[in-house]
Amino acid sequence: MLLTRVQIRRLVHVHGREILEHEHMQIERTCYQHGVVTTFAHSIRVACLAVWLADRLHLWHRVDLHSLIRAALLHDYFLYDWHDWDEGSHRLHGFTHGSTAMRNAVHDFKLNRIERDSIMNHMFPLTPCPPKYIEGYLVTAADKISATQETLSFDRFDKTLRKPDHGRRR
Ligand SMILES: [Fe+2]
Ligand SMILES: [Fe+2]
Repeated sequence: MLLTRVQIRRLVHVHGREILEHEHMQIERTCYQHGVVTTFAHSIRVACLAVWLADRLHLWHRVDLHSLIRAALLHDYFLYDWHDWDEGSHRLHGFTHGSTAMRNAVHDFKLNRIERDSIMNHMFPLTPCPPKYIEGYLVTAADKISATQETLSFDRFDKTLRKPDHGRRR
């Protein structure tokens, strides 16, 4: 199919409309994920990247686009700022937030088994069960790539802030 970025964003907004417009999703706009990126922005990136991967890997005969986008948008639907959680140790968050996201998500939306499983197991291999469906592997891969990019771009942002000091030292 070879989709463009604009086409992918449009697909995410069409298939993800119910989720993106839900009032609880607005909480994600105030929670920071990696660096300066909110959980809301991170979830949209993961959804776009998951669609991009499915497209470039020619997986459309095996992937349900609607479930893929919905699972990606809900994969971090834990609805708290994890930096404030578990007394700042962040040790438990990585292990537990897949199930928390799944619990919140089934409360707010009617999800199929692909969506539920992909949300629940997106932190694999940190958590014991691998995803059961190819959609879940795409969400997991897109999440890991996005998290790395977001953390790296925040580091770069940090360095630009420090640059003026170097200039002054001469
Ligand atoms: Fe996550
Ligand atoms: Fe994530």
